[in-house]
Amino acid sequence: MTLCALLLLLCGCSSGDRFREVAIEEPYAHKVDSVLSLMTLEEKIGQLNQYTGNYQATGPVIDDTTKIEQIKKGRVGSMLNIKGAHQTRELQEYAMQSRLRIPLLFGLDVIHGMRTIYPIPLGEAASFDLDLIRRTAAGAAREAAAQGVHWTFAPMMDISRDARWGRVMEGAGEDTWYGTHVAQARVEGFQGKSLADVSTVMACAKHFAAYGACIAGKDYNTVDMSLLTLHEIYLPPFRAAVASGAASFMNSFNDLNGIPATGNTYLQRQLLKGDWAFNGVTVSDWGSIGEMVAHGYVPDLQEAARAAILAGCDMDMESRAYVSGLQELVEKGEVPEAYVDDAVRRILLKKFQLGLFDDPFRYCDPEREAQTVLCDSLRMLAREAGKKSVVLLKNDNAALPLKDFKGKIALIGALADSKVDMRGSWANEGIVEEMVTVREGLEARYGKSNVIYADGYDLETNRLQLPQALNAARRADIIVVAVGERYFHSGEAKSKADISIPKEHQELVSALKGTGKKVVTLLMGGRPMIFDEAAAHSDAVLLTWWLGTEAGNAITDVLSGDYNPSGKLPMTFPAHIGQIPIYYNYKSTGRPESKQRGYTCCYQDIDFEPAYPFGYGLSYTTFEIDAPTLEKREWGLDEEVVVKTTVRNTGSCAGKETVQLYLRDLVGSVTRPVKELRGFRQVFLQPGEETEVSFTLGKDELGFYNADLEYVVEPGTFCVMCGPDSKNVKSAEFELVP
Ligand code: BGC
Repeated sequence: MTLCALLLLLCGCSSGDRFREVAIEEPYAHKVDSVLSLMTLEEKIGQLNQYTGNYQATGPVIDDTTKIEQIKKGRVGSMLNIKGAHQTRELQEYAMQSRLRIPLLFGLDVIHGMRTIYPIPLGEAASFDLDLIRRTAAGAAREAAAQGVHWTFAPMMDISRDARWGRVMEGAGEDTWYGTHVAQARVEGFQGKSLADVSTVMACAKHFAAYGACIAGKDYNTVDMSLLTLHEIYLPPFRAAVASGAASFMNSFNDLNGIPATGNTYLQRQLLKGDWAFNGVTVSDWGSIGEMVAHGYVPDLQEAARAAILAGCDMDMESRAYVSGLQELVEKGEVPEAYVDDAVRRILLKKFQLGLFDDPFRYCDPEREAQTVLCDSLRMLAREAGKKSVVLLKNDNAALPLKDFKGKIALIGALADSKVDMRGSWANEGIVEEMVTVREGLEARYGKSNVIYADGYDLETNRLQLPQALNAARRADIIVVAVGERYFHSGEAKSKADISIPKEHQELVSALKGTGKKVVTLLMGGRPMIFDEAAAHSDAVLLTWWLGTEAGNAITDVLSGDYNPSGKLPMTFPAHIGQIPIYYNYKSTGRPESKQRGYTCCYQDIDFEPAYPFGYGLSYTTFEIDAPTLEKREWGLDEEVVVKTTVRNTGSCAGKETVQLYLRDLVGSVTRPVKELRGFRQVFLQPGEETEVSFTLGKDELGFYNADLEYVVEPGTFCVMCGPDSKNVKSAEFELVP
């Protein structure tokens, strides 16, 4: 414990606001404290200050020509939106002119790749392949680090049950258990084994917390939820991120139960830095300290600074609240200096761990940059990730694959040849010209003269170009049509009240179906969409998200059957907008929904079933998954329950199935969802082959938070279900006995 903290404790300041000083281990403790002891208060506050560079602003940018002077004076600890070996070196050189030569930390939103672009995170989550997810994060880190970046503001681990929210594209979807595993894989991928490795970057668990539950799916909106739901549904990925060693956390824009997350002591001091013993850095979201004024939580920027630092927010991204107001608050004794010291220690620790004090320029190597970006191995990884993210939603009469196909393909839809739309949003250094479109992919695979392309609609206005589309269709043997969202229709500040694809796109698919030819629809977008008419008029539908650099090749791999699709939906696709929020792990209620409706939990005017359930995705082959078996009915509370099932390939080609295990605790001290994903296994089987799959259910799978927010496993009857998705399951029961 430092002297400051000791004094603070003696003054009694540590009680109500739950201040707990970060525990730093040797050899870093000594180094960090020796730097801290040399710093003036102004320099300390400088370390908490983060400014943006001139790239990709997602909020209001303050026009400030003095940033370089401030860096030289030690008044800036970190910059975001700075990249490239040259640019980062230039800025770091300014930092080296400051009195204590404390290096700058460079942060950037490396969301799904840096120069090589991988599928958008929601799309990649459909792969249900944690190893792949870890590898793409590592690939992104390698490129970002080679471009001078130390810190990515990713992964976003917000659980979201509302497809209207534009940022669903950045996360892993609606399920907490799966989202937790994805969050861990991404943190591990970004950070590798050690931050000292120059090809890794600091991860940032964001947005803390519950940002995905914004009311009505409107970005930045208020969140109001029970603590039980917060702990059960929204916090687990974050807690797991701490366990995986996430170097940083970003708080969120939203107000949570009346207190903005940025000024939320319960979240940041009590849970994160207290109960979970997080020793990394917390950064505000863009301007979110200052936005507490607009929330009506504090009267001015200085009070915002006070609320944020007391609540445990270490770094101020673009509010300038700390750099303008904190010094006076400390000097007047209104904010104990120990709070500032604690935040500074956390930041210095990361700078030491990254090796920046040894060599502030170790990430600024133009040669490494040139060798790493868009190298062949990363492109191959992008193609692998792309094809594994595609979800086959429909395939009537084996319309796909186009194996050994010798005819002509009519490729229709401007999205199929739009490079910028292959890339998706938050695409960083991904250069538009480097994206492979579907048209290019198909032409490379089937020959240019065999692909008859037509825009079908205007990309900007969606106005249909039917004669041209129908003409192409008539000259071909099969029709492939691309419909859906443009890249800027999902992402931050891209909430939508209507998640249907453009009506013109639906009309186009219907008109093409009128030719009597087979229609294969490629559905592109960053969220669950409603496309009922298009689906009805398609023989096959592939959900292709935005797949990044290798999109066109990856989609062609799937269309051709070179890769048999294996993706599964990480979010429920609603049948109707009015069903939102819709998710598979809802609670039973006292009047469970019923097809007869009556006085049950239903709508009068629409069905309660989604268009496609969570976990859904077909293959070019078929699988059969048996009902689960257990070797006994009764299991002790401390035992690990072993559940087995057999899966067999009943179709005619080899393929991969994701066997999913769901659990229901039939009676709990708090009500339990009708089913919760608690395991999945991917198996690759030849036609006719079968294999046994085994799951082990321990405390992490069997328990839940009770009314006192304690994690408990309660005795009683459980229903265990296995299947290819959350709806088509077979079940068995077992008892947990004390
Ligand atoms: C977003 C964050 C992002 C930050 C910096 C904000 O608007 O909410 O997720 O990391 O900008 O770009």
